[in-house]
Amino acid sequence: MIKEPNTPKEKINLFVPGRLCLFGEHSDWAGLQKSMNADIVPGYAIVTGIEQGIYGTAEKADTFSVTSTLPGYHGASFSCELDMAKLRAAAREGGFFSYVAGVASYICEWYHVGGLHLKITDMTLPMKSGLSSSAAICVMVAKAFNQLYDLHMNTLGLMNIAYWGEQRTPSRCGRLDQACAFGVNPVVMTFDGNELDVDRITVRKPLYYVFADLMAGKDTVKILGDLNRAYPFAHNEMEKRLHDALGKDNRIVTSRAISYISSGDSEKLGALMTEAQALFDEKVAPMCPEELTAPVLHSILADPVVKNLTFGAKGVGSQGDGTVQFLAKDEPAQRRLTDYLKNKKGMTAYTLTLKPNMAVHKAVIPVAGFGTRLYPETRGVKKEFCPVVDKDGLVKPAILVLLEELDRIEMDEICLILNKEEKTYYEDFFQKPLPLEHYSKLSKDMKAYEDKIRRISRKLRFVFQNEQKGFGHAVYQSRSFAAGEPVLLLLGDTIYHSNTGAPCTKQLLDAYEQFGQPMTAVHPVGLDEVVHYGIFSGVWENREETVLKLTAIVEKPSCEEARDYLSVSNRKQAKNYYAAFGAYVITKDIYDRLEYAVNHEITNEKGEVELTDALEYVRKEKGMMAFVPDGESYDIGNAAAYRRTVAEFGSR
Ligand code: UTP
Repeated sequence: MIKEPNTPKEKINLFVPGRLCLFGEHSDWAGLQKSMNADIVPGYAIVTGIEQGIYGTAEKADTFSVTSTLPGYHGASFSCELDMAKLRAAAREGGFFSYVAGVASYICEWYHVGGLHLKITDMTLPMKSGLSSSAAICVMVAKAFNQLYDLHMNTLGLMNIAYWGEQRTPSRCGRLDQACAFGVNPVVMTFDGNELDVDRITVRKPLYYVFADLMAGKDTVKILGDLNRAYPFAHNEMEKRLHDALGKDNRIVTSRAISYISSGDSEKLGALMTEAQALFDEKVAPMCPEELTAPVLHSILADPVVKNLTFGAKGVGSQGDGTVQFLAKDEPAQRRLTDYLKNKKGMTAYTLTLKPNMAVHKAVIPVAGFGTRLYPETRGVKKEFCPVVDKDGLVKPAILVLLEELDRIEMDEICLILNKEEKTYYEDFFQKPLPLEHYSKLSKDMKAYEDKIRRISRKLRFVFQNEQKGFGHAVYQSRSFAAGEPVLLLLGDTIYHSNTGAPCTKQLLDAYEQFGQPMTAVHPVGLDEVVHYGIFSGVWENREETVLKLTAIVEKPSCEEARDYLSVSNRKQAKNYYAAFGAYVITKDIYDRLEYAVNHEITNEKGEVELTDALEYVRKEKGMMAFVPDGESYDIGNAAAYRRTVAEFGSR
C-alpha cells in the first residue's frame, strides 16, 4: 500500500479572466446612488468573464511580492513587508503595482495571513482595453491568499475584497469589474444602493460573441462626468430620460436577456442588443453627445457585411468609440466576422464563446461490492436486489427504484459496474423476458410496469470490476463509458425521496448545470455520526444555502477533527456536518485522478482505492462544489438502515 499525502502542492496555479459587460453598463454606479435617492431603480448588469486573462503561480513566502518574466514588465517587480500601513502607502502611490498592494493591505488588515510570492506567468488580456485587467489582478491576489491560507471566502467574498483593495488606489473601478471572479460564465449583478447581489445564469446553447477595439478612442472620464450630473436627482426631462434608461428600461432589458440566454434563443438575444443600443442612443447619448454620438461605432453597426453575419450588436462599457460587441449567428460566422474586422477594418478583434456546462446524459452505478454488512443475505442475493415497498405499492428490488428515477429524469444511458460472476444474475433479471405463463397472470398495472422494465433495460450497459478494490476502483471501470463526459454517479444501495416535484437526482443535475463544477450531493448528519462517512466542508456559494464551495473533504474523520475543522455554519442552525448523500456529478478530472491512484496503488489501509481521495485531489486542483438536495436518502447497505428504509420509504 502506498499512502500518498493529498496535501496541496507548494505552488498553486491561478487564472483570472477579463470581463465583458453584455447588458446594463453604467447601471452599477447609477444603482449605487439609490443610497442618496430612494426613487432610483436598482441597477442590473449581465457580465461575463472572457477567454483572455491573467495567468500566475503563487506560493507562501515571508513577504508579499509580485514578479513577472513577461517582456511587458521590463523586469519590474514589487516587494513589501506584510505590513498594512506600508502596503496601503504603496497602494496610494498609484501605478500598476498599486492594485496588488491595495488588495494585500486589505487582506492583512482583516485576516491573519503570512506573505506570498505571486508570479505573473502570462497575460493574454490587452491592457487598458476596457476589459478590466486591473480588477483581474486584484481578484488574483485575493484568490492566492484565499487558497494558500484557507480564508474560507466564497466567490462573492473574493469579489468584494478585490473591489475594496482597488478602492485603496487612485484608480476607481466600477462594481461590476470584479465579475471576472466567476470565471467564463455570465452572471447577473444587482446594484441596489450599497447592496450587491450576483446570480449565475445557465447558458443553454452556445453563444458566439465577437468583440473588437474600434481603434478610435473615447474619453471615459468625460462620459462619466456628464452622466453623473443627472445623479442622484434628475433636474430636467433629459436627465429624467437618463434615469429611465439606466433604471426601469434597463431592468426590463436585462430580465429579457436572462430569459433568452437561459432558453438558448440567440436570435432574440441579438435583436435585444440592437434594441439596447437604440435605447442608449435615444436616452443616454444626449447627455454627452461629443463622446456618445460615436460615429465609428455606428458605422460598424450599420456595416452590411457585419449585419449579415450577426444577430445583433452594441457598444461596450462606458460606450462611445471604445469597444463593440457582436453576437455572431454561428461558429463559422464568428470566424468570418473576426477576420473581417481584423483584415478589412484594422481592428483588434477577439472571439468569446459562452458554452453550456455539458448536460449530463449518462449515469454510473457500481454494484460489484460483496455487501459484507448484509451477510448472510448476500451469500445468495445481491443487496441491490433486497426488496422495498415503493410509493406505488409494488414490491421492488431497490436497484429498480433507483433505475426508475433515472428513467423519469430521462437519463439516456446507465452503466452498471458488476462483478463478473454476477453477469447472468443481472442479465436474467433485466434482459430475459418474463415467461408468458407468468406475464399472463399480471394485472394491467403490473403489465405496464413490466413494459417499463423492458424500456429501462434497453438503457443499461454492463462493465466489470474484476478485483474488488473499493468504490473508487469500481467507478474507474466506467471511464470508457463516460468517454470524457460528466456523469451522474449513484450508489447501488441508496434510494431517494424528494420533498419537491423534482427528483433529488434532477435537483443535483440542475445545480451542476448552473455552477459547472464537479458536485457531490450532501446532507446534514450529527457530529456523533461523522466517523462513518466522507465529510464535506465549505462556504455557502448561494443565498439559498444549498450550494457549498468546498474547502475540505475528509473520509471518516474523528469527532474532534470534524468539530474543529469541518463544521459549516448556516443561518438556521449554528453548525452542521455534511456527509455524502449518495449521488455525485463526476468529470474527466476525477477519472484521471482515479487512473493515477489505480496505477500507483494509492489506497487506504484496506487496500481500496477511494473516490473521496480523488474528489479531494480535484477539489484542491480545480475546485469542487457540494449540493444539498431538498429530500432524503435511504440506505439499504446495513441492517439498521435497511429496517428504516423498509418501514418508511413506501409511505413517504
Ligand atoms: P459499500 O461501501 O457499501 O461496499 O459500496 P459493499 O461491498 O457494497 O458493502 P459492505 O461495506 O461490504 O457492506 C458502495 C457501493 O459501491 C459498490 C457497492 O456495490 C455499492 O453499490 N462497490 C463497492 C463496488 O462496486 N465495488 C467495490 O469494490 C466496492
